[in-house]
Amino acid sequence: MARIIMCGSFKGGVGKTASSWNLAYSLAEMGKRVLAVDFDSQANLTTCFGIEDPAAVPVTIGHLMMNRLEDEEVPDPSEFIQSRNGVDFIPSSMMLSAVDSKLRMEMGSEKMLTGILEPLRGLYDYIIVDTCPSLGTLTINALTAADEVIIAVNPQLLAMMGLQDFIRTVKKVRSRLNDRLQIAGILLTMCDARTNLCKVITEQLTETFDGQIRIFKSIIPNTVKVGESIYYSEPLLEYAPENKACKAYRNLAEEVIVTAQQRMSLRSGGR
Ligand SMILES: Nc1ncnc2c1ncn2[C@@H]1O[C@H](COP(=O)(O)OP(=O)(O)OP(=O)(O)O)[C@@H](O)[C@H]1O
Ligand SMILES: [Mg+2]
Repeated sequence: MARIIMCGSFKGGVGKTASSWNLAYSLAEMGKRVLAVDFDSQANLTTCFGIEDPAAVPVTIGHLMMNRLEDEEVPDPSEFIQSRNGVDFIPSSMMLSAVDSKLRMEMGSEKMLTGILEPLRGLYDYIIVDTCPSLGTLTINALTAADEVIIAVNPQLLAMMGLQDFIRTVKKVRSRLNDRLQIAGILLTMCDARTNLCKVITEQLTETFDGQIRIFKSIIPNTVKVGESIYYSEPLLEYAPENKACKAYRNLAEEVIVTAQQRMSLRSGGR
């Protein structure tokens, strides 16, 4: 049964999409069956998977959400799951922004994504959901569907601001909508470990959240290879397997697997 892991942040441009994409491939390299879900109308993850014109994709996550909102049946997975080099994905498009405005007026709209992903759990080990940088209805939907959330933080972008708000929202979703939800950890992205700023922020985070929230040991370094690999639609494992960011994503995948196993054994032990 798949663990559903959402990658989120309060702030934009912190590396959520790059992380979702490369984590998906690193998990797949370790023999895991992975589905990546683009849950952002910017469709950046869809582009990473090599789709040049997301608007031309007949069934995207936006279409599936619209189906659920209209109480129509969700099509067969073969109609909306695509695959590239060992990782399956559900594309997105601008259509999702139309869903966003509709969701705000619907009863029980927080569980629309849950309804789409739950039937797919049996097909995968991990479902990675890439989200947009806001605390709106789409993000609440993703948090409601997820077992775990990875919070991406980029020290250079003052991304610490808003972190507490994000964590507060996670707690609210856990108590009101989804008691499975856990914070997998905080992921430092685009971070040069040699710089003072990265050291200071890491220390600050560790002090603030010591014993409460894991700070992933894998810190994603700043490297031009990430932008290049996105441009060529080749994940780091293909484009630059020896690059330090690729190694960091491999390590992150290991950490994610261990964390997921610990949580699952805790849950089953608690029953
Ligand atoms: N480790 C990295 N080193 C250097 N550049 C990076 C790294 N990770 C991501 N980037 C670049 O930073 C930009 C933002 O990355 P990305 O799209 O993954 O962020 P995001 O959090 O998904 O943004 P949004 O909030 O808009 O969805 C991209 O141009 C990407 O190429
Ligand atoms: Mg993104």
